[in-house]
Amino acid sequence: MAILSIRIIGDPVLRTVAEEVTTFGPELAKLIDDMHQTMVDVRGAGLAAPQIGVNKRIFTYSVDGEEGCVINPVLVASDDMAAAEPEGCLSVPGLGFTVERHRWVRITGVDVHGEPIDMEATGTLAKCFQHETDHLDGKLYVDRLEGEDRKEALRAIRMANYDDVTAETVAQRARTVGSAFSAGAAE
Ligand code: NI
Repeated sequence: MAILSIRIIGDPVLRTVAEEVTTFGPELAKLIDDMHQTMVDVRGAGLAAPQIGVNKRIFTYSVDGEEGCVINPVLVASDDMAAAEPEGCLSVPGLGFTVERHRWVRITGVDVHGEPIDMEATGTLAKCFQHETDHLDGKLYVDRLEGEDRKEALRAIRMANYDDVTAETVAQRARTVGSAFSAGAAE
């Protein structure tokens, strides 16, 4: 297994709609193992494949003792929203902002073997599934901010000059930020 470097906002792969996974086998299994290990290493609650530069519809998650991987996820969400809570993202290190998310989701997709997944989630896990699925559509949580929060986020992103940040520093920042969130981790 390997720890992969995490792509930072500004990288075009984070803004690309990821492709469906159609090939299952040892290569996919290794990728998912590496993603899982990377996510654990940076104490993330979730990690989407574009965040490690792979343009595929895959994410891993680890929330409140529940962990796994969803491939080709499809979300159905409740109309009502959860209480807004701060969120972070490994690809936008050093920041955290409050985001509105749907209270409940049903997620379907397949696992590493291509077997169907069908889960329902509320709470932090539901937020994680929404955050990670957004990544696969080229969206970052800061896109969902409005008003002053949005201005503040854009200003902070400009100031951070992420282009100069090495992968190692990013991982360290991610750890620091991760531990600062109410959910216990960035995604
Ligand atoms: Ni994220």
